[in-house]
Amino acid sequence: MNFKINDDVFNVFPKLETERLLLTEFEKTDAEELFKMRSDDRVQKYLDRDPHRTVEESRIMIEGMIASYISKEGINWIIRKKDTRDVIGYIGYWRMIRNNVRAEIGYAMKPEYWGKGYMQEALIKVIDFGFNEFCLHSIEANVNPDNASSIKLLEKCGFKREAYFNEDYFYNGKFLDSAIYSLLETDCENKFTRH
Ligand SMILES: CC(C)(COP(=O)(O)OP(=O)(O)OC[C@H]1O[C@@H](n2cnc3c(N)ncnc32)[C@H](O)[C@@H]1OP(=O)(O)O)[C@@H](O)C(=O)NCCC(=O)NCCS
Repeated sequence: MNFKINDDVFNVFPKLETERLLLTEFEKTDAEELFKMRSDDRVQKYLDRDPHRTVEESRIMIEGMIASYISKEGINWIIRKKDTRDVIGYIGYWRMIRNNVRAEIGYAMKPEYWGKGYMQEALIKVIDFGFNEFCLHSIEANVNPDNASSIKLLEKCGFKREAYFNEDYFYNGKFLDSAIYSLLETDCENKFTRH
């Protein structure tokens, strides 16, 4: 059982690798690639956050992600295809609840790469890292209940719906519902290699 986050993961950025993907640290030069995603209506549909209007906004978001790693508050990876090195998406523990040994996950991918199992491959690796290296006890995902693709992905990876909040989130003139999914390290004990 993990009782404490492993802060050693903040010494050297943890690059991850899967069969088809490379997960590495964001750099400021990735702003154009992030902008392609965060300005695309299809990607933004259920994120319930304002789309980026300029590349500068994406650069500021990247600076925030870099700073959050330095201040040990989050780890965000940019996802590239191994064969072409093309950026396909991103994934990360963008919010940590340190006292509860828990972190919230987030992810998005360019629509041209949807339906190929890439995010599932990335998420499995990030879960494995989360429990075995980062030493989390649980991982949370907060999803718009209409986001069927994201819910399908979470459920495939073993997440369970643990809460449903009615109209708890105000965005764009509307009160929206939220579904909270979570995965416990004990749910994964037999699925991943423990170190
Ligand atoms: C959420 C999101 C990443 C899901 O992408 P996705 O491509 O559907 O997810 P996966 O990587 O798990 O791929 C699964 C699909 O690939 C298919 N697939 C093809 N080859 C596969 C393989 N080798 N392995 C697994 N799945 C494969 C699956 O059948 C499935 O397709 P289906 O949904 O039509 O059944 C994507 O919809 C997205 O970026 N949305 C916008 C951002 C967003 O909403 N983020 C989440 C906020 S909570």
